[in-house]
Amino acid sequence: MKILAVYPGSFDPVTNGHIDLIKRSVDLFGRVVVAVGKSYDKIPLFSVDERVQMLEEVAKEMDHVSITIFNGLLVDFAEEIQASVIVRGIRAVSDYEYELQMALMNRRLSSKVETVFMMPAERYSFLSSRLVKEISLLGGSVKGLVPAKVEARLAERQKQKSNP
Ligand code: PNS
Repeated sequence: MKILAVYPGSFDPVTNGHIDLIKRSVDLFGRVVVAVGKSYDKIPLFSVDERVQMLEEVAKEMDHVSITIFNGLLVDFAEEIQASVIVRGIRAVSDYEYELQMALMNRRLSSKVETVFMMPAERYSFLSSRLVKEISLLGGSVKGLVPAKVEARLAERQKQKSNP
């Protein structure tokens, strides 16, 4: 039996750690909707449309994965598409407190959807979109941490920032 899972996040930009989790989620649940949402305490580097485009480039080789945007509450979106699972990645203990808070708040908001924490491969346990952006904007290499097309977009953004 296939379960529809929603994998929400800012994906600003998508990293190889996110891709690893998308693949693990499809293997486990059968169908995954990757949902690009708004985090109210983050100023994004890429627009929502750019983030979706990057995810679509990545997902075009994957079966049973779709990409979408959601507005408003995550649980409302999950109920609307009839997803029964929210997937969130946990890398280290430091992620746990925030993730637990969100998961329990989401459970309070809706009893129809269960949060499942998943771990990416160990080689991605230090990887985050925030660090990727910082390294790239400061001229460092992010090769192997993000897909090649994302690397190219980051390099383009770095050029724009250094020659506005
Ligand atoms: O990748 P991120 O930034 O950790 O993703 C956070 C995101 C977008 C999943 C979270 O901020 C979210 O669910 N936003 C939608 C609004 C919402 O439902 N807020 C209540 C969360 S308890």
